[in-house]
Amino acid sequence: MVKTGVIGCGYWGPNLIRNFRSTKNCEMVICCDKDEKKLERMKSLFPGIKTTTNYQDLLDAKLDAVAIATPVGTHYPLAKACLMADKHVLVEKPITRSSEECQDLINTAESRQRVLMVGHTFEYTAAVNKIKAIIDSGEIGEIMYVSSTRVNLGLFQPDINVIWDLAPHDVSIITYVLGKNPISVNAQGKAHYTKGIEDVAMMTLYYENGMIAFLHNSWLDPQKIRNMVFVGTKKMLVYDDISANEKIKIYDKGVEKPRYYDTFGDFHYAYRYGDIYIPKIDEHEALGEECRHFLHCIVENQIPRSNGYVGLNVIKVLEAANQSLTMQGTSVAIDSNSYQTMTGKGHEASEHRK
Ligand SMILES: NC(=O)c1ccc[n+]([C@@H]2O[C@H](COP(=O)([O-])OP(=O)(O)OC[C@H]3O[C@@H](n4cnc5c(N)ncnc54)[C@H](O)[C@@H]3O)[C@@H](O)[C@H]2O)c1
Repeated sequence: MVKTGVIGCGYWGPNLIRNFRSTKNCEMVICCDKDEKKLERMKSLFPGIKTTTNYQDLLDAKLDAVAIATPVGTHYPLAKACLMADKHVLVEKPITRSSEECQDLINTAESRQRVLMVGHTFEYTAAVNKIKAIIDSGEIGEIMYVSSTRVNLGLFQPDINVIWDLAPHDVSIITYVLGKNPISVNAQGKAHYTKGIEDVAMMTLYYENGMIAFLHNSWLDPQKIRNMVFVGTKKMLVYDDISANEKIKIYDKGVEKPRYYDTFGDFHYAYRYGDIYIPKIDEHEALGEECRHFLHCIVENQIPRSNGYVGLNVIKVLEAANQSLTMQGTSVAIDSNSYQTMTGKGHEASEHRK
């Protein structure tokens, strides 16, 4: 039985509590929030749950694991304290505010032999795993570019810009699905409402093999859109996370260049307008899958799919994007050797921890 606690009972924390409570071999013991009103709500939602306003109580309690769903600036001190108290830790995305903080959490987790996992929830969705399987099968061909739109109205964050709030999802999905990290990033954005906190941003990521990805993140958009397009040399795949039943569509569309032509008059591209199909997805709640994976890694002594290094690699991209923002979109290089993996296999990680 894994005894867990949750710090942060705002919007996301209760979802973690609900999933831990409904998981076999897990006892969801105590939740913590600075705000008494949030704790009153937890008591009414989850009868029998213990509550506290002081996270120290979770360090002293006989818990095996703690999940942290507080504002990003608090992730590092809370996660560090939990690891130092020998708790396994699941931290919400983005894992920390800087790569230095994240590296320190990784080192601490390794020296204390604890699981450190980041809540990259989309890596646990059925749709993203289906996309990964389709792309891995070669059906789409070599991916030439990815275009991602993650926009809606609000919620404005007081401490992080829209890139740090929304782009962790886009970056973690692309990295997980394609197994590639960008080598340079440029980003442009604008803070319309809170000084110094961009509420709309466009980002371009460049990859070693010539692949390019465009990300549009905004809290200032009339529509809620969660759309990603993967354009391959053979086919094109569209992922609409808002759609209830048609999340993935595969378009047998493409362009072919004539191999030989004698005159410019003979030259013309051939456009292929083939069928569109919608693969079946066996839906499940991604957060439930994520929580079960965290507990499984604790019990089986395994490295999580979204381990500390996976979190760190996303932070490197966000840091480069922030730097580019301050330079009005000038490209910022990321040394490909600076990306690290826990096993040398990146997301394939499922090996035993030391
Ligand atoms: N994986 C996902 O899809 C997903 C979705 C939403 C939010 N998140 C992440 O979850 C985290 C929380 O986001 P949210 O939207 O729930 O924020 P929120 O502001 O709604 O809730 C945060 C809560 O943390 C509490 N808190 C702050 N500092 C604390 C401390 N030191 N000790 C105890 N409680 C403290 C606040 O009182 C608040 O109730 C963020 O990192 C966010 O990026 C992830």
